[in-house]
Amino acid sequence: MHSENVMDLFNRGTTVKVCAPMVRYSKLAFRSLVRKYDCDICFTPMIIAEDFMRSAKARDSEFTTNKNDRPLIVQFAAKNAQTLADAACVVSPFSDGVDLNCGCPQRWAVSEGYGACLINKPELVRDMVRHVRNQIDNPNYSVSIKIRIHKDLRKTVDLCQKVEAAGVSWITVHGRTADERHQPVHYDAIKTIKSSLSIPVIANGDIKNIQDVESIRDLTGVDGVMAARGLLGNPAMFAGFDETPLQCVWDWINIALEHGTPFICFHHHLIYMLERIASQPERRVFNNLSSTSAVIDYLHNTYGSL
Ligand SMILES: Cc1cc2nc3c(=O)[nH]c(=O)nc-3n(C[C@H](O)[C@H](O)[C@H](O)COP(=O)(O)O)c2cc1C
Repeated sequence: MHSENVMDLFNRGTTVKVCAPMVRYSKLAFRSLVRKYDCDICFTPMIIAEDFMRSAKARDSEFTTNKNDRPLIVQFAAKNAQTLADAACVVSPFSDGVDLNCGCPQRWAVSEGYGACLINKPELVRDMVRHVRNQIDNPNYSVSIKIRIHKDLRKTVDLCQKVEAAGVSWITVHGRTADERHQPVHYDAIKTIKSSLSIPVIANGDIKNIQDVESIRDLTGVDGVMAARGLLGNPAMFAGFDETPLQCVWDWINIALEHGTPFICFHHHLIYMLERIASQPERRVFNNLSSTSAVIDYLHNTYGSL
């Protein structure tokens, strides 16, 4: 398996386009789809490092990849430096970097000490980053963190500078606090963070089309952008399509079937992709279909083959 140096992508001078970690969704089949449409880096869904190290079953079900699935960043939820470093050692031969989730705001995660609560524990995050850095021999293997912002932005800048000094390769900033859901993204905060660091920074939050990619890059001065819901709705958005092209829908069907994607996941992705291109009555029928053959027949009859 070849390995990529993710950091080379940041030196190209173009905006690096990243598919976000998404539990249930950013799995191998979906990553293969977005890679066809100008996505530069893909993240796995968040994997709990402790479970991953404890159980072979968890390793098999949570992490699937293939030789074309690069550059790939494996995202872990962790709260212990040794566990994260051990998990990084397991996945490093099959990936280009690990990322520590410091942004998940869900109550179960925060109460377990994972996700967004880590933005209040800069020393622990620094130790986790340092431990992974020291334990992985390959200097090109990237170690990154994905954060939400703190209400007091100085605390976020302090966290980022601490992990920069500990050897973090790059940082993704979702420009919302842990309490915010649909409020506007604080791009000004992302700009402040970027200007306080020397390492690459990726902006995340509400990037829905290629115009957003460029305008948010210009607004914040970041090195790249990450999208989650924008890519779910339109996996071809980084290639400049304003809505999901039919080619992309059929590409998904071919890729998903090749990978043996379970029906629920196969169907859910199509529901997202058709959200903007199908009418409401069409969506009502489509969303209630319950087999792969019914879905394919429906798409053939409604949109025709290509
Ligand atoms: C279905 C779904 C699953 C997500 N899973 C993760 C995850 O595993 N790890 C993570 O750091 N963020 C996760 N997120 C958050 C996204 O990565 C991203 O930070 C957030 O959705 C904001 O970006 P967007 O406006 O482009 O959607 C998830 C978001 C969605 C919608």
